[in-house]
Amino acid sequence: MTRHATIIGTGSYLPETTMTNADLERMIETSDQWITSRTGIHERHVVAENETTSDLAARAAAMAIARAGVGLDAIDLLLLGTTSPDYIMPSTACMTQAKLGLSCPAVDLMAACSSFVYALQAGAAAIESGRADTVLVIGAEALTRLVDFTDRSTCVLFGDGAGAVVLGVSDEPGVEAIVLGADGSGAEQLIIPSGGAAAPMTVDGAAARQQFVKMNGGEVFKFAVRVIPRVTTEVLAQSGHTLDELAWLIPHQANKRIIDTIGERLAIDPERVYLNVGRTGNTSAASIPLALDDLYTGGRLRPGDLIALVGFGAGLTWGAATVRWTMPVPDKGGS
Ligand code: UT7
Repeated sequence: MTRHATIIGTGSYLPETTMTNADLERMIETSDQWITSRTGIHERHVVAENETTSDLAARAAAMAIARAGVGLDAIDLLLLGTTSPDYIMPSTACMTQAKLGLSCPAVDLMAACSSFVYALQAGAAAIESGRADTVLVIGAEALTRLVDFTDRSTCVLFGDGAGAVVLGVSDEPGVEAIVLGADGSGAEQLIIPSGGAAAPMTVDGAAARQQFVKMNGGEVFKFAVRVIPRVTTEVLAQSGHTLDELAWLIPHQANKRIIDTIGERLAIDPERVYLNVGRTGNTSAASIPLALDDLYTGGRLRPGDLIALVGFGAGLTWGAATVRWTMPVPDKGGS
């Protein structure tokens, strides 16, 4: 039999506290009207004081494992995509592994908002090659901890959350083609300047707020709307499908205007383009698995549906995958 990787469980977690545009209006010089019209974002979730990325990851992953119906000892590998790791060292994957009570190898993948698709590629490859049978793939972020709440050009955009899938082995295709890419010449466009080996944190660096996300928003916008339609077309062609066959295009939830422009350039029916950025903000590596879990629990994914997952972000990086959905529609109540 040909070994394929297929999604056998999904899970997600959004922190309880939300921050609305009205809350931001009280903190910085901005308006609900500006944020809504430029980004489509109305609110985002924010981690509690005693929570961090690995806590959100563990909650989403526990749900995905339960839905997959596998024991903890069945998980062969944990891959975690994040842009807001608990620490530079050790990995957030290890922190999450301990919180879940797993004993498998665990590692972070850091391709910013494309991290989940990169991790999906690594997980699917491990299954297809026979090196693993069951892989936990997580996207998790506590990005509000790394955002400068005095910088209105970035702080209105990001939110916290986590999503996870369990990949299992199947003789039918689940995860089909994956196209990944990177262009490091754009590294400066979206960067946390300080805190790594290039510029360890100093008092002066902290005073200049270099430990926070800095972004050239216009350039990132142009990059996304240039690259993503091309990569979507490429991944569909590689897997032998056309856009018409797609039940859902699930783009990284960065900004409604970016998603609308991608949809227009592809000429896809907006009803088939997933959108939840309005209530989550940009949750970076978590946005695609959050979307998957939302569609699954809402009964909007049916066995046999073809979906395309498309991520883009800092690096610059991008990644697109076609997936044939195999999980049954959940009973009312969502599991
Ligand atoms: O996962 C990938 C992560 N990155 C992204 O998705 C970001 C992609 N880029 C974008 O989404 C957009 O570039 C932004 C939403 C970040 C900005 O929208 P824009 O239409 O490119 O606005 P802009 O940066 O050109 O700024 C226009 C004006 C400026 O004022 P002046 O110079 O024209 O007087 C800004 O100072 O809007 C001002 N501005 C704000 N005003 C109110 C910037 N941020 C805000 C704000 N509230 N929060």
